[in-house]
Amino acid sequence: MMKTIDDVAVEGRRVLVRADLNVPLDGDRIADDGRIRASLPTLTALISRGARVIVCAHLGRPGGRPDLKYSLAPVAAHLGLLLGQEVDFPGDIVGPEARAAIAAMRPGGLVMLENLRFDAAETSKDDMARGYFADRLAAPVDLYVADGFGAMHRKHASVYDVPLRCASAAGYLVQAEVAALRRLTAEIQRPYVVVLGGAKVADKFDAFGDLISKADRILVGGAMAFPFLAAHGLKTGTSLREPGQLAAAVSYLRQAAPGQIELPSDLVVATGIAADAPRQVVAADSIPADQMGLDIGPKSAERFAGIIGTAGTVFWNGPMGVFELAPYAAGTRTVAQAIADSGAFTVVGGGDTGAAIRALGFDVGAFGHVSTGGGASLEFIQGKTLPGLAALET
Ligand code: 3PG
Ligand code: MG
Repeated sequence: MMKTIDDVAVEGRRVLVRADLNVPLDGDRIADDGRIRASLPTLTALISRGARVIVCAHLGRPGGRPDLKYSLAPVAAHLGLLLGQEVDFPGDIVGPEARAAIAAMRPGGLVMLENLRFDAAETSKDDMARGYFADRLAAPVDLYVADGFGAMHRKHASVYDVPLRCASAAGYLVQAEVAALRRLTAEIQRPYVVVLGGAKVADKFDAFGDLISKADRILVGGAMAFPFLAAHGLKTGTSLREPGQLAAAVSYLRQAAPGQIELPSDLVVATGIAADAPRQVVAADSIPADQMGLDIGPKSAERFAGIIGTAGTVFWNGPMGVFELAPYAAGTRTVAQAIADSGAFTVVGGGDTGAAIRALGFDVGAFGHVSTGGGASLEFIQGKTLPGLAALET
């Protein structure tokens, strides 16, 4: 069993909490604060038990150097509002200002470090580089708490190397995520329907090989659909495509049983990603050369909803289209509604997917579990060992 924060003494101790605060921003406004709220139970418990709490996290993919666009400053300010207490934000990670802020902390106080990915060592493939950075993160702390479930599939210094170096325990979010997602790794209630979409295709594409052997139906929307449509010989216009996925899509379609992988048969297309771009619904085999697919079409959405209605278990990761813009939200809404209405055990995973159901006004209580992790939950349900969990168990 994983040790949790209930099993360790924290009073007066310096506790480094790795959280996943990778929230969508609109300028410096936080578009959805779900991941910040999800980290509150652990933070408030540690604060009320008199710990000195140091929070570390990443935001976006700044590429290993400081970039103010990706500063955690707005997140620190928002966390302070939610907690109703001051969040000290020294503005660096392991430098003199962070060290001074940590040294000056009182029990019950909270310091948030700057974006971990401002240092290239955080995500380095070189164990020595990561290890050196992890040593510096671990130096001033007595205990490490893993609570950033959404980043636990990354072998990064703050996720993997720090807990190898100091006493560590899981936070409440990680505990809750693992308990809920375990239900998708053992005896699964069938039919098991997996719905995949979203824009970070490269991160999720590898999962198909495993999902074909586990799921009864795989419904594909979002940018994830385009390599499969291309594999059927269809033209995808200017739709979001990443190189190197066509061959894999062809082989997944060969491995799958007939009808196991369901693709959109119609799409909402437009000349660009804009709410006021001229748009139309077209059949999947008639995407105009100068237009891009931005949502699944109404017929596809209804077909997907019908299949979801027959499921015993549903796992959904990734919106069906650009839900942030109202003209392209209908496919995501229809799928979300079908999942909310279903009597199945349902899991919705990922920062964007969680943001989508909240933005579209769904009650999160209508879903069995809303995971803060997208890539992380997808790897977990494949039975892969998440580096962050492995490090806690050593
Ligand atoms: C996420 O948003 O999926 C997590 O925070 C991990 O971020 P990453 O995909 O940039 O590693
Ligand atoms: Mg992700």
